[in-house]
Amino acid sequence: ATERTFSIIKPDATRRNLTGAVTKMLEEAGLRVVASKRIQMTQAQAEGFYAVHKERPFFNDLVSFMISGPVVVQVLEGEDAVAANRKVMGATNPAQAEEGTIRKAYAESIEANSVHGSDSLDNAKIEIDFFFKPEEIVG
Ligand code: CMP
Repeated sequence: ATERTFSIIKPDATRRNLTGAVTKMLEEAGLRVVASKRIQMTQAQAEGFYAVHKERPFFNDLVSFMISGPVVVQVLEGEDAVAANRKVMGATNPAQAEEGTIRKAYAESIEANSVHGSDSLDNAKIEIDFFFKPEEIVG
């Protein structure tokens, strides 16, 4: 089915001027960018967005990293978009990411792993609503 998912191009990627290269890989995977904006996340936004990871040992570092520079938040639309996006992103840890994936090509570390993508359709809706108003999404 046609789905929408949520993606973030993380600060390690924007810093290296990889917004276009990452977006090209998303598009080549059959995903269409139906909303996009470059933002500087606040600490409160980063903490709220990653609240599910609050008790994890990497939480504070993750929040610092996500506010260390601009990010590009996007809504991606396509057939089975959640799974298609996860496939093209590759494993969270770039050392385990497959050839041809964004993280294999560009990620620097398990933290600075260039992209985020929703892990389920339910979370995609929550994450899209966190950053976008309905009128900002143009399908
Ligand atoms: P993301 O898909 O955005 O979800 C949580 C993020 O935490 C993950 O990508 C990484 O950027 C970061 N992270 C840092 N250390 C770890 C870890 N050990 N396991 C999972 N995620 C981690």
